[in-house]
Order: sequence, then structure tokens, then C-alpha cells
Amino acid sequence: MIVRKSPREIEKIAAAGALVAETIAHVGSLIAPGTTTDELDAAADSYIRERGGIPTSEGYRGYPKAICISPNEIVVHGIPGPYPVSEGDVITIDVGVTLDAYIADSAYTFAVGEIDADAQRLLDVAQDALEAGIAEARVGNRVGDISHAVQTVVEAAGFSIVRSLVGHGVGRHYHEDPHIPNFGEPGRGPRLAEGMTIAIEPMITAGSSEVVVAPDGWTISTADGSLSAHFEHTVAVLEDGPRVLTPRVGLVRT
Ligand code: MF3
Ligand code: CO
Repeated sequence: MIVRKSPREIEKIAAAGALVAETIAHVGSLIAPGTTTDELDAAADSYIRERGGIPTSEGYRGYPKAICISPNEIVVHGIPGPYPVSEGDVITIDVGVTLDAYIADSAYTFAVGEIDADAQRLLDVAQDALEAGIAEARVGNRVGDISHAVQTVVEAAGFSIVRSLVGHGVGRHYHEDPHIPNFGEPGRGPRLAEGMTIAIEPMITAGSSEVVVAPDGWTISTADGSLSAHFEHTVAVLEDGPRVLTPRVGLVRT
């Protein structure tokens, strides 16, 4: 069942989304060679709580940390720990915040210092794909229109889509219906209607689309060790077009 939100509820998700965006920018400002992902997680945890929010991931299905931090070949759900960030890494920061009982979810992949041209292209394409998906989040379109737009951008660039992981409805719960796959046919799937709030989140790789789950039960990495990128926004489907509820602050690209 897809829950549509009232204008009042959408403002609450937007308030959570503003805190998500500020947290991503704050963590991004702390990313530097030598900083551990545990230190970044602790900074995110206090930043969110000091502003009245709750890190949604903490305790979600037993997840042990405040946010997910996924370096390099880790696609999603990297658990913060002793890993020290190093020059040339790409680091995905994925943040969910619950504020006043409403939830927003967003992710951004940061480059640490100078990265390879190929790595930079992977990040650029993932962002382009997210933007193309958001543009299709319109009343009357179908989920497949979003999926197809994302897929087209990623595959035209020669990169792979992780098919076993998908975007999702979000707002009252972290993960709601519908699934938002990053591949699919235009004109297929559930119809988008006013008030739906969805997380669109291309997860792409420079190599194969296969992923493996680590023994910790969370960390999902590319099977071939290739680099991956992940960008996510929470978006409201409104009569006058898509509204990004997690607009970037303090970053070079939206
Ligand atoms: N933020 C992730 C998403 O985009 C969900 C993380 S669940 C967690 O859907 F428990 F690992 F944090
Ligand atoms: Co999500």
C-alpha cells in the first residue's frame, strides 16, 4: 500500500530532510585523510541529536551505528569503524533522520582529495542518473518512468546498475511501498500520485553489477571489488512537479 502524505506531513518530511542535508554537509566537511569512519559517525550522531533529531538507521533492524558510511567498493550499509579515510577514496555518506515522527533519507558520495578521472566520471554519472530519475517523479507518470530514466543514463555511460538494491517510499517509515528500482520499462509499475514521498537512489558500479554481503550481515560490496557510487534524495510528487525534500547544502552539486 502506498501512503500519500498531506501538505502538513510533507512539510514535516522536509524539515527532517533539511537536517539530513545539513548532516551530510557537516560530515563531508570532516572527511579528510586519517579520519576514521567511526569518528564521522559519532559527529553525525551528535549533530543530529543536538538539533532534536534521531538517526533513523540506529537500531533499525539491529543496525549498530547512526549512519552508513561506505568507502570505495562498498555499495551501501557500510558500518562505521576503524577504517581511516585516505586520499583518493570515494566515501558514501547515507543519512536517515527522524524529526517530529517523520523521516527523510539521502546519500552523497564524496571524493577524498584527488581521485582518478574514471572515479570522478562514476560520481558524475550517478548524480546525473539521480537527477534524471527525479525529473520523472511527476503526477501521472509511473515508477517505471523513474527507473528507466536512471537506467538509461547509467548504461549509456557504460556503468552497471546494482539490481538487487532499490529505492523506496519514505516518510512515516524508513522503508515504505513502492520499491523504486533503478532499471525498468517506461509506463510500467505503480502510478505516481500527488503526495507520494519516495527515496530515489541509484547505486552503480564501474564493473559488474553483482554484490556480496559481508559476514556482519550489513556491508554490501561489489563482487569484483570495483568502485561504486550512491546518490539519494527524498522527493515529493506534487501537482506542480517533483520537490526534493533533502536539498543539498554546502556542496558543489545537487
Ligand atoms: N539509508 C538506507 C537507504 O537508503 C537504509 C539504511 S538501513 C540501515 O535505504 F539500517 F542500514 F541503516
Ligand atoms: Co534509502
